[in-house]
Amino acid sequence: MQPKSNIVHLPVYQPGKPVDDVKRELGLEEVIKLASNENPFGYSEQAKAAIINELGQISTYPDGASFELTAAVAQKFGVEPNQIIFGTGSSDIILMLARTYLAPGDETVMADETFSQYKHNAEIENARIIEVPLKNGKHDLSAMLAKITDRTKLVWVCNPNNPTGTIVKEDELTTFLDQVPKDVLVVLDEAYCEFVNEPGFPDGIKLLKKYRNLIVLRTFSKIYGLASLRIGYGIGHADVIQYMNQVREPFNTNRLAQVAAKASLADDEFVAFCREQNRAGIEYLYSHFDRLGLSYFPAFGNFVMVDTKLPSAEVFQALLRRGLIVRPRWTYYPTHIRVSVGTPEQNEKFIAALEQVLQEAAVRG
Ligand SMILES: Cc1ncc(COP(=O)(O)O)c(C=O)c1O
Repeated sequence: MQPKSNIVHLPVYQPGKPVDDVKRELGLEEVIKLASNENPFGYSEQAKAAIINELGQISTYPDGASFELTAAVAQKFGVEPNQIIFGTGSSDIILMLARTYLAPGDETVMADETFSQYKHNAEIENARIIEVPLKNGKHDLSAMLAKITDRTKLVWVCNPNNPTGTIVKEDELTTFLDQVPKDVLVVLDEAYCEFVNEPGFPDGIKLLKKYRNLIVLRTFSKIYGLASLRIGYGIGHADVIQYMNQVREPFNTNRLAQVAAKASLADDEFVAFCREQNRAGIEYLYSHFDRLGLSYFPAFGNFVMVDTKLPSAEVFQALLRRGLIVRPRWTYYPTHIRVSVGTPEQNEKFIAALEQVLQEAAVRG
């Protein structure tokens, strides 16, 4: 039996190394994972209450159309319910976009490097992937624009970008959107947007009225802290959402995720708390990276890409032995690691461990 030839070489998605694996393999009691940009402050108490309240219902199928959650999102963001689609995480929205819009040979333009799932799903559809190198860790929107051809169907913009954490500002984005042909769908992945409080950072949802060929992706996995419940969403033009619904798996979001997401949306206090803590964590990390003479990309999400000036796989292993999991091995950044912002205590432990690792390397020479 032979699978489709275009999937034979595909890697299996490599998530951040699980804490329990590291504990087992290295015999460690305490392991801190700063590798998957999760929320170290957990999730909203209101979401917890909603989950508990829903537990009695889990023997019945969820509402495949997420009616109540759709209404809550529509109200919060001032859009129509038929502009919204939910997925098993925003990863599922990415998959649905590729399924809906990419046929073999179609072209799709994305940054290099950016979130891996854009390329992965495009490869499954046997599309032609056009990768445009980042410029100083940022999307090079004019270079991306220049790569759009008659065959281009989807263009991906990740804002803030994973893994570099950089952002494109509203003026840059709208200049780009003004020039993208109207039959090319621009996917604006805003998985980390709730962490950003930078003047000039665009709110993709506000741009939807002007740009019918735009879809905005958001998730409950990051600031809302619901990563294991797997729920994210897309907001776009009703026609786009209709086509995506036609390829959507039935019941792709579950009851617990739906009620938790709805309760989380209403808990602005929790979101504001996490945003402030995250900003303070970034400033703390910056101050120590500066002290250690390490450079980093400006960070707008809940993670920082820092240049350790050592092969990142070595730094990763050395940190792992000290009970810290980070993300190494970036194609264009062989000495960078991506570290998620933790609690103040986790950040301190990370810096202490990193300093030891750097000192040991300096002694070895
Ligand atoms: C930029 C970006 N988009 C989308 C996702 C997918 O998140 P989820 O499927 O948990 O919503 C991630 C996860 O790390 C991400 O970094």
